[in-house]
Parts: sequence; C-alpha cells; structure tokens
Amino acid sequence: MLNLGFIRLSACRFSPFIINHSSSSSGFYSSQKQTISFALRSQMGSFTTLSQSSSRLLFRQLFEKESSTYTYLLADSFHPDKPALLIDPVDKTVDRDLSLIRKLGLKVIYAMNTHVHADHITGTGLIKDKVPGIKSVISKASGAKADVFVEPGDKITFGDLFLEVRATPGHTAGCVTYVTGDGPDQPQPRMAFTGDALLIRGCGRTDFQNGNSGQLYKSVHSQIFTLPKETFLYPGHDYKGFTVTTVGEEVLYNPRLTKDEETFISIMQNLSLAYPKMIDVAVPANVVCGLQDLESKPN
Ligand SMILES: [Fe+2]
Repeated sequence: MLNLGFIRLSACRFSPFIINHSSSSSGFYSSQKQTISFALRSQMGSFTTLSQSSSRLLFRQLFEKESSTYTYLLADSFHPDKPALLIDPVDKTVDRDLSLIRKLGLKVIYAMNTHVHADHITGTGLIKDKVPGIKSVISKASGAKADVFVEPGDKITFGDLFLEVRATPGHTAGCVTYVTGDGPDQPQPRMAFTGDALLIRGCGRTDFQNGNSGQLYKSVHSQIFTLPKETFLYPGHDYKGFTVTTVGEEVLYNPRLTKDEETFISIMQNLSLAYPKMIDVAVPANVVCGLQDLESKPN
C-alpha cells in the first residue's frame, strides 16, 4: 500500500518533465513523449482506483517466528492522533511492536484477537500493562475476557477508518475475520484478516476448541469467498513463507476449500496432526487475555 503511494508521488513528480519535453519538435521525442505519458497516465490512473484512502491506511505485517504468527498493525495516518490497532499480537514480540508504534508516532487504541489461540500466548495482556487506556477486543462467542466483545456486523473504528467484524467459526467456536471497511473513503482493495479460519492454500485445524469442519467450510464460503475477488487476505500464520493472498486466488487454488463440503470434512478428519504442543498452556492463558494472574486487574 505504501509502495503504491510512492509510485503515485513519483508519477506526479515526473509529469512536469513530460510536459516540458513535449515542446521538442522532434518526431522521435514526440512519440517517446506519448508513450511515456501514456505509461504515466496508466500508472496514475491505476493508482487512482486505490484512492487516497490507501495512503491514509498505515499498514505493517509483523512476524513471530517461533509460532509463525502474523501480527498486523493498522493506523489512520491522516488523523491528527494517528490512532492504531494491533491484530493478534504475540507475547514474545510485544516490545518490538510497541517500539515500532512509538517510532511511527502512532497511538494504539485496540489490541485485538481473531480467536483464542492454541499455539502461542497473546500479547494483549502485556500490552495492556504497558499502554494505559488501550482496550482489548475479542468476539463475544470466544468466551474469553476482554474490554470489548464484538459480534458479527460490528464496526471497530480507528480515526476515519474502520474494520467490519465477520463471524467465521469452525477452527474455534469464536473465530472472527476483520475486514477493512466498505466505502469510498475506505482502503481499496479491501483487506481481510482471517486469523486461522483461512490460511494461504490451507485453513486452521478443526479438532480442538469446539472446532467443526462443516461450520468452517460454511464460514469461509459465506463470509470470505463472497468478498470481491481482489480482496487481500492476510492469515494468522504461514509456514511456507507466503505473506498474502486474495479471495480470487484461494477460490481457485485452496486445496481444501475448493472441494465440496463433504470432501472438505473428510480431509479435515484425516489430517493426522500431532497434539498441539502449546495448547495446554496457551488456551488457559489466552482466555484471560494472555496473563493468568489477571484476576486482580481489569481485563
Ligand atoms: Fe488458532
């Protein structure tokens, strides 16, 4: 997104050069000018479809290598307060994330989770200790503690941008996907943060935490695959080095979710996966915001 912002500025900066060059009477220069002008107009035109809101959104994808977890930082960079939020922070990388937020001059207002994680401890509790006033967010259906409980259709506003909450249960009963807002002043193409409901060419397992394969299939097909094809999908994890996909890509190439529901359920029932090594530690911690001694503290 930010790179595209740079392209737009570059194109604007070079436009006067093209106009001045057109004063040459040379046919060569004239035709070269037309070619370059067309290229720049195309470049600028394609960026126009992304709109100013693309540069309004400050976006960072952060990685925690032990659990291969992605944390996402989003902020409204045009708003005077630069309000920001974190999706799926990890306890081990809280200091890195908060340092980045400080350096970028952002004010982080929400620490959100897509679900109760079984493979790592959320950073939400630690962040609440370090950032006064920040609010933790999780779905009401998760059964976990938080300051704000979201339900399908809710909007999470940061500055003049917002995320829409979509229920995508099946990996866990309380999984949600956060989708950037739909509207002329919101980021285009849209972006969806899918947690473990949909991974790049895969999906989260469904054999723990009230998982349900049939429910996951319906969630993905009704709540994620119905988004515009160009929507960027950002998963909760990746184990192969991928960072982002699109709705169009997964509809074509996801090896599990392109199958019919019955086949999908059969695939999920025969994955023969090992018992999650962190589950007995992570889940009890994550239902209380990542800190098990929170009883005396506000959540
Ligand atoms: Fe998970």
